[in-house]
Amino acid sequence: LIHPVILCGGSGTRLWPRSRKARPKPFIPLIGDRTLFQAAIERCSGSEFADPIVVAGASHVDLIEAQSAGRPIRLIVEPCARNTAPAIALAAARLQPDDVMLVCPSDHYIADVAAFRDAARAAAALAHENWLVSFGITPDRPETGYGYIKRGKTVSGGYAVERFVEKPDRERALAFLESGDYSWNGGIFAFRAGQLLEEIATHRLAMSEAVAKATECGSQDGQRFLPDAECFAAIEGESIDYAVMENTSRAAMVPVAMGWSDIGNWAALQDALPSDEEANHNVGPAEIVGSRNVLTVSDGPRISVVGLEDVCIIVDGDEVLVTSRAGAQQVGKLGGPSDQ
Ligand code: GDD
Ligand code: MG
Repeated sequence: LIHPVILCGGSGTRLWPRSRKARPKPFIPLIGDRTLFQAAIERCSGSEFADPIVVAGASHVDLIEAQSAGRPIRLIVEPCARNTAPAIALAAARLQPDDVMLVCPSDHYIADVAAFRDAARAAAALAHENWLVSFGITPDRPETGYGYIKRGKTVSGGYAVERFVEKPDRERALAFLESGDYSWNGGIFAFRAGQLLEEIATHRLAMSEAVAKATECGSQDGQRFLPDAECFAAIEGESIDYAVMENTSRAAMVPVAMGWSDIGNWAALQDALPSDEEANHNVGPAEIVGSRNVLTVSDGPRISVVGLEDVCIIVDGDEVLVTSRAGAQQVGKLGGPSDQ
């Protein structure tokens, strides 16, 4: 049995105005009528998966319970956000050492669910042999917001990782891309729970001890597990990529082509959608004339566009966003609105 661990953290300010503080990226419908969180839960269903463990902050618990209707989940409520390494360690500490966990971000889009499940099986088999397994994605640009993994010798179903570099600068990202030896880390991992906890103890002893204590002194409230707030708050926040993946000698990866996107901004969402001949995409009512590569998203009013190229126009409630595709990455910098 594979134990899905769904991480609900980040805020997704670059998808304003659809994404707002009270309803961040995983919990809003972006593609189709399901939210990314609902899609993440559904991807991990079937006889090979246990009930998902969802790790999230207290402010999102109501959204999570509403959106997982019908599917039993095991909820771990973080007293505060300490990034992904402590969140994943909390889940590992609630499992048996030999359980295999499949860590999945709640805010990614995956087009090919069958390919995802095949990769999950291959990754789980490697995790049983004490590999720390990443899903490797073929890169198509020198993205600096991702982790890069250098493929080493082959192991069954994948590769050992020779080197893991989290968020390189532009120059290194370009060199990795051009070498052809690197994949992106898709942010989806398979670990044997006991192995993951040992690795954290090896590389981050203080974190390991604090998570163990927060778990030991935690309490169960219905389907929610509440780690001890004081012990957890004392942890220094760090991502799993920096804390473990860059340091371990047991990293492996399974290559997977599954139409993956982390939907980092509106232009990335557009790229993930099937497009018409002019590469225009409309979610909600719109009329497009003489335009190319235009994304419109509306929750009500019709958006009419004439003679534009490479723009995203988003209407949501009382807010309108107009951005070039090139500017989409900077939407999070808008001062006032991203806070709402
Ligand atoms: N529960 C919980 N608590 N979840 C968290 C926390 C936290 O404190 N912090 C982040 N998350 C969740 C996010 O919601 C997201 O689903 C996932 O963990 C990854 O965190 P991000 O903050 O989005 O990481 P990133 O995008 O900068 O980098 C990671 O993902 C890339 C691929 O999208 C890394 O793993 C990179 O190496 C990878 O390439
Ligand atoms: Mg991310």
